Amino acid sequence: MGQRADDLRGVVVLVTGASSGIGAHCAHVLAVAGATVALGARRTDRLSAGVAAIEGLGGRAHAVALDVTDEASIEAAYTEIEATLGSVKVLVNNAGIGTAGPAMDITRSAWDELMATNVTGPWLVARAFARRAKAAAHGGTIVNIASIAGLRSGGGLAAYGASKAALIHLTQSLAGEWMRYGIRVNAIAPGYIKTDMNAAFFETAAGQALIARIPQRRLGRFEDLDGVLLLLASEASAYITGVTIPIDGGHLLASM
Ligand code: NAI
Repeated sequence: MGQRADDLRGVVVLVTGASSGIGAHCAHVLAVAGATVALGARRTDRLSAGVAAIEGLGGRAHAVALDVTDEASIEAAYTEIEATLGSVKVLVNNAGIGTAGPAMDITRSAWDELMATNVTGPWLVARAFARRAKAAAHGGTIVNIASIAGLRSGGGLAAYGASKAALIHLTQSLAGEWMRYGIRVNAIAPGYIKTDMNAAFFETAAGQALIARIPQRRLGRFEDLDGVLLLLASEASAYITGVTIPIDGGHLLASM
């Protein structure tokens, strides 16, 4: 038997927004699968616990300063990762922010910040990844963290949903353009995952009503993402590109 298709031993992975939530979890799961992980965040001091946890398992990790909205920061991050770990072969475009509220009340500045972080950011980080992969002729894989909010409308989600719909469209377009360079581009569309930021809301009546509309009658857990993350990050998905896979306990199927 050769190497398993989902074995990431020795593969250098960059996870953006890796200091908390889904990004921190993804970095850990990929490291457990053998990847060498660069954890990117605006403040590297927030990455020390994640790096230490990976190193504690015998894995290899490196904290790198990265603001996904800043081209100079992105270039500096890739240069640092190449010098310390080697060329990045897998990019997990996870950094993102949420803005909820009626479309009439969303301010121009909140809209601009959302689009800069959730659309322009992933595009800039992916573009830099692809330029380097093309120059080195080594190919690679991109996993964008979208949302089911990009696949269907929901209350208060006009701006956030539009940003994630744009990311899903970008996933298709980049997959088509970059296949010739051996770069695959896919996305995960999580449903609601319980995090520190939303746990209190889901204790309220409105939060409980939302959970009742999910066919599986529960929120997602970080570990629900693991199978698809490993599939899309590895050669187990060698013939898959341009797709967005929802992980939502059937939430997209809830009746209209
Ligand atoms: P989170 O707030 O814990 O994580 C987002 C991370 O992105 C944070 O560490 C934040 O510092 C970082 N970030 C924000 N702006 C950045 C920038 N300019 N440069 C670098 N890093 C930046 O929230 P969570 O839930 O873990 O979100 C991660 C991704 O998952 C986001 O893209 C979010 O839209 C998406 N998502 C989350 C869901 C949920 O229910 N928690 C559901 C569906 C998608």
